[in-house]
Amino acid sequence: MSPLTNKRILLGISGGIAAYKSADLVRRLKDRGAEVRVVMTAGAQKFVQPLTFQALSSNPVHSDLLDPAAEAAMGHIELAKWAELILIAPASAQVMAKLTCGMADDLLNTLCLASEAPLALAPAMNQAMWRHPATTANAKTLRDRGVHLWGPAAGSQACGDIGPGRMLEPAELVLQAETMFGSSDCLQGKNVVITAGPTREALDPVRYLSNHSSGKMGFALAKAAQRAGAQVTLIAGPVNLATPAHVKRVDVVDAREMRAAAERAADLCDIFISAAAVADFRPAAAAEQKIKKQEDHDESSIALIKNPDIVAGIAARVERRPFTVGFAAETQQVEQYARSKLQRKNLDMIIANDVSRADSGFNSDHNAVTVIDRNGSDTLPPALKTDLARQLIEIIATKAQQ
Ligand code: C5P
Repeated sequence: MSPLTNKRILLGISGGIAAYKSADLVRRLKDRGAEVRVVMTAGAQKFVQPLTFQALSSNPVHSDLLDPAAEAAMGHIELAKWAELILIAPASAQVMAKLTCGMADDLLNTLCLASEAPLALAPAMNQAMWRHPATTANAKTLRDRGVHLWGPAAGSQACGDIGPGRMLEPAELVLQAETMFGSSDCLQGKNVVITAGPTREALDPVRYLSNHSSGKMGFALAKAAQRAGAQVTLIAGPVNLATPAHVKRVDVVDAREMRAAAERAADLCDIFISAAAVADFRPAAAAEQKIKKQEDHDESSIALIKNPDIVAGIAARVERRPFTVGFAAETQQVEQYARSKLQRKNLDMIIANDVSRADSGFNSDHNAVTVIDRNGSDTLPPALKTDLARQLIEIIATKAQQ
């Protein structure tokens, strides 16, 4: 069975001569069992008739943002929610520029703004347009935002030029889409619990101790695990992130609440991933009333006591012990410290990252990690947290089965 079976793919077609190849792309996606809906820009319709795509996709073609009849059948927000992947092929220089700016002046770019589905572009344009600094900058911005750029290939172009800017062939685009959805079944039937974000340890009713964890890595893992077929419980400290679709979220504030939620959820789970940055210490006693400033004291101190180690508690279980994965955020001797943590906490795997790097770690969208278990280690290249999460879920799924 193809990883594209029953996947809902929204194919955007923009104005370029490569639009004629998109007819073959629709046929190939349908052959692999995908459901395809086509959105065409006005420019695309100058190259190929919408009827061609309607016949091939077995669905009406969408093209108008403000068409009451089309909106009544399937409105643009409904369409944005329907898609599990938005693929724009061909993606013209204009489409890339509009997406970079976040414009919403036609149906296609509005859908891209409104959808939470992954977005992939198959750029197709004249080689000078592709090489132009404006397009180069747009491509970088889009990549940094997590948009996938598939191609372009180099070669002879319809205009007679030779160089980069050819749309990837439909067969190659299908392969890219299959690879993207490829890991989608690796956690089928599994129950996964993930902790994410910081904890807040109250000093008094208005103050707390905490850290800079954004929760992005844990949330990306939850999304990737759910996409890979798992039932996911995400135990989140205070973060400002949307809950990934079909994920059960349990909000907690401090480490003791997080431990209680984790212990409860872990009873039924196969894999426990501890991505939270749990505060190691908490104030020995949280004052019931706001602590007042003492005008005659220039110094003050807070007594701290150790918080429970949540992941170590789960890994120490004799019964109902899940495959247990921890994270190690280090600023030096990353692998060495992470390995000793793996042993001390009795983990099955630890994912180590160097948080001293400005371009990755805590608040960044990027990360670079080394995966360590008892048998060895594997360093993954720097990547967006969303892409890294997919790779990590595949590695965890494989190791958990061994
Ligand atoms: O000891 P350290 O905090 O560096 O260990 C990091 C790993 O342990 C992470 O997986 C983190 O989620 C987990 N941890 C925990 N409970 C704590 C402290 C850390 O689960 N109190």
